Amino acid sequence: MLAPAPLGSRWTAYLGLLSALSAAFVPAVAVKEHDFKKCHQSGFCARNRAFADHALASSSWQSPYNIAPESGSFKDGQYQAVILKTINDSGETVRLPITVSFLESGTARVTVDEEKRQKGEIELRHNSKARKERYNEAEKWVIVGGTALDKAAKVDYEDKTQLTVKYGPAAKFEATIKFSPFAIDFKRDGHSQIKFNDQGLLNIEHWRPKIEKAEPEKKEGETATEETKAEETKAEPQGEDESTWWDESFGGNTDTKPRGPESVALDISFVGYEHVYGIPSHAGPLSLKQTRGGEGNYQEPYRLYNADVFEYILDSPMTLYGAIPFMQAHRKDSSVGVFWLNAAETWIDITKSKDSTNPLALGAKSKTSTRTHWISESGLLDVFVFLGPTPKDLTANYGELTGTTAMPQEFSLGYHQCRWNYISEEDVKDVDRKMDKFKMPYDVIWLDIEYTDEKKYFTWDKHSFTDPIGMGKHLDSHGRKLVTIIDPHIKNVGDYPVVAELKSKDLAVKNKEGSIFEGWCWPGSSHWIDAFNPAAREWWASLFKYDSFKGTMENTWIWNDMNEPSVFNGPETTMPKDNLHFGNWEHRDVHNLNGMTFQNATYHALKSRKPGELRRPFVLTRAFFAGSQRVGAMWTGDNQAAWDHLQASIPMILSQGISGFPFSGADVGGFFGNPEKELLTRWYQAGAFYPFFRGHAHIDARRREPYLTGEPYNTIITAALRLRYSLLPSWYTAFRHAHLDGTPIIKPMFYTHPSEEAGFAIDDQFFIGNTGLLAKPVTEKDKDTADIWIPDAEVYYDYFTYDVIPTAKGKHVTLSAPLHKIPLLMRGGHVFARRDIPRRSSALMRWDNYTIIVTVPKDGKRAEGDLYVDDGDSYDFQRGQYIHRRFVFDGAAKTLTSADAEGRESGAAAAAAQEGGEGEWMKKMRAVGVDKIVVVGAPAAWAGKKSVKVHSEGKTWEAHVEFTPATQGRAAFAVVRKVGARIGADWTVDFA
Ligand SMILES: *[C@@H]1O[C@H](CO)[C@@H](O)[C@H](O)[C@H]1NC(C)=O
Ligand SMILES: *[C@@H]1O[C@H](CO)[C@@H](O)[C@H](O)[C@H]1NC(C)=O
Repeated sequence: MLAPAPLGSRWTAYLGLLSALSAAFVPAVAVKEHDFKKCHQSGFCARNRAFADHALASSSWQSPYNIAPESGSFKDGQYQAVILKTINDSGETVRLPITVSFLESGTARVTVDEEKRQKGEIELRHNSKARKERYNEAEKWVIVGGTALDKAAKVDYEDKTQLTVKYGPAAKFEATIKFSPFAIDFKRDGHSQIKFNDQGLLNIEHWRPKIEKAEPEKKEGETATEETKAEETKAEPQGEDESTWWDESFGGNTDTKPRGPESVALDISFVGYEHVYGIPSHAGPLSLKQTRGGEGNYQEPYRLYNADVFEYILDSPMTLYGAIPFMQAHRKDSSVGVFWLNAAETWIDITKSKDSTNPLALGAKSKTSTRTHWISESGLLDVFVFLGPTPKDLTANYGELTGTTAMPQEFSLGYHQCRWNYISEEDVKDVDRKMDKFKMPYDVIWLDIEYTDEKKYFTWDKHSFTDPIGMGKHLDSHGRKLVTIIDPHIKNVGDYPVVAELKSKDLAVKNKEGSIFEGWCWPGSSHWIDAFNPAAREWWASLFKYDSFKGTMENTWIWNDMNEPSVFNGPETTMPKDNLHFGNWEHRDVHNLNGMTFQNATYHALKSRKPGELRRPFVLTRAFFAGSQRVGAMWTGDNQAAWDHLQASIPMILSQGISGFPFSGADVGGFFGNPEKELLTRWYQAGAFYPFFRGHAHIDARRREPYLTGEPYNTIITAALRLRYSLLPSWYTAFRHAHLDGTPIIKPMFYTHPSEEAGFAIDDQFFIGNTGLLAKPVTEKDKDTADIWIPDAEVYYDYFTYDVIPTAKGKHVTLSAPLHKIPLLMRGGHVFARRDIPRRSSALMRWDNYTIIVTVPKDGKRAEGDLYVDDGDSYDFQRGQYIHRRFVFDGAAKTLTSADAEGRESGAAAAAAQEGGEGEWMKKMRAVGVDKIVVVGAPAAWAGKKSVKVHSEGKTWEAHVEFTPATQGRAAFAVVRKVGARIGADWTVDFA
């Protein structure tokens, strides 16, 4: 290779590609694991694991952290004190201020800082300009609400050794803070749920000066392990291993660590909980594995350190592109969770053990507890504790703190067609034409990096994209959009105004010396915008104005890639940790936030493209953190065209969903490699259920637009695309719920059925929103059946045939699933909406009438569901310009009714009228009605019925109904045609 330092692997692949004579894909080895650190290669992780080993091995271990009782005070829902850390036998102590806040929502928050660093009473090494405090701004980027203190929280008991606070809804929660050693026991209804420092692994590495010893000058390129050996011989008398306290090297890069060791770590026990979920993104099962070895377990902790991981390996705790340090524990009928607010490199060990003396043994069946050990490199110790008790409580509590999914552009729920790269305007138009020719709906075509003039963002390749506006208009003529990629690395080259301004305005990330940081990415030598800087965000916004980014228009949206950030010649393919951001915070402190601040800068840029044009942005990101859900969608990065990657996508997306960032998808077809036709077809059938549904392919991969697949695949893929489009009203409704309270869009079994233990580890099937639709994509080669686990005693119908699925609660049922068949069931008891006319894009479906599907439950009594609709583009919904209907089927009264879901008195129109009048969109929606109602599982007594009565808006009329009796295996169903009621109005259909 050309460069002296190890290059990022995608870069290596790219160079390899350029030099390769043949365009055939060379199956590469999986991710070069040795490019990324294992715990033992990350000094602070190794130190904390060793600390844990030492503590757990010793029967006499006592945590050296004690609250000074006289330091404590409780006021207005907040307890403040000082923890004293004893650092050696002499009794010397370090002061660590602690705040325990009890919030109105019932969430508790524990924050620990270090007084010396807080006051700046430390010295930095290497003449560093870095800030001296522990990083205390994660909150500023992440937390958007829910922090009001619970003034009703009360000290219930207090003595010299501990203090108990009652808090939360009906004071059902309590926290017992033990002073010596410091520990907290969080209880609900009198039972322990979550314990802090139960195992004594709390460790806050305090500041200390480096005692310089005479040592030989360090040679360049020495690895950490070599240093370890060199320094072990001069170990401290107390036996603490300080070999990784100071400068640390990995893969040829040295981190100068000017503040020395400063990690924070804590053990968090989930008492009586066998399953833990969350902490995405990892390519592994939804129910997290143990990480301290043993059969079937991982050896390494789960790692959160956003990185450009080339061809990631599956079933691994290795870090990926994004990080959400939110974990949920679940057992029968109870969920609790923690959110570890820290943006530095983080590792999480998980172990499970049977408890012989489980305090819960009386009440709970499960005797297994899960213990976790959280380790971050720097920053505050800042943890939120949620006591549930339902999975929905957790996602709502977390959503209140970090924000919920932004209401998306409606088109973004359609199908996206991407590849690296559509090489010219002609290419784009050709794909567009062919999708139409084959009657395959799609909404968005994407341009990867090659559309630019030599990787200079905000420019177009002068030869291939001569008339981007013409291309944009062409797409717009069928309601379609264009997404172009814009990355955070700015090409360092003369005659490029963007980089010239970045430099002259001083808006880039700095190196450790405080001068502009230079590294390698797609364009070669590059600089990185520092989106932590408000001036940089403002400048970034100016670049997206239509008259600045020429060639873009109202239907152009943006994709932010490489924002971990990916730096090809940097340590672990990212930035040196001693780089400096705005305010002189080290990159170390903010690494996992970096991608979010960049995506956020783009999101705000799109909001201000044109004065007076306020539309919801669409920005896709690869890197993310807690809070990224507020500003766009994510995808799971560079996967492979392989069956196991298709399988892995489902637990990954489910994990995103329960972790507050449900607008997620995986590249359909697999990024690297060439999927065989069966795999590609199955992937479309699965992708139709990803909240974000995009086909994408590597530059090396053969063309694979869905129409190229040939028959019978083309027809089958078209059916999957149309299924997605017909269900768009229900997908959009699910997004509305995610927006309101953080509910996932596709839901795993433990979430919908928190009492059914057999479902807690199931992560290959899911429900869609509140529709009762249960999907189980086929993800294995040559498989023509699907085994679905049935979580309850309700009736389930086949979505396509209305067959009644012969099954029983807790049983697996085997469905026939030949290639053309998507295993999709309808649970009895739901009502959901569709739009059935096949069209080319979602925009062309806007004024189509609806079909309402009712699935009659087993007992025939009641089915319900809802539909949310707005203009899908503006923020008018915030002033009442939307329709939200609740549908109720009442078996006894034999009626199906539609009423305003929020009880607004005379429906949405009236509400809108109060808030500034009925807008254009609401007016046009007056013409949109219900075309068809299908009642699946209709009572036999309806046989012979020819018409039903429809009551709406003071009128009554008859509509034609056709009843099809049950046959062997298939449910009876009734279809009402030309219903004639408006979708926005109240109506009742009377089947009596
Ligand atoms: C997003 O950008 C806005 C506008 O510049 C800023 O107020 C906000 O703090 C930013 N948030 C994040 C997460 O970057
Ligand atoms: C859609 O529904 C409305 C209201 O019921 C009706 O007037 C209209 O004819 C329907 N349109 C179509 C194309 O069926």
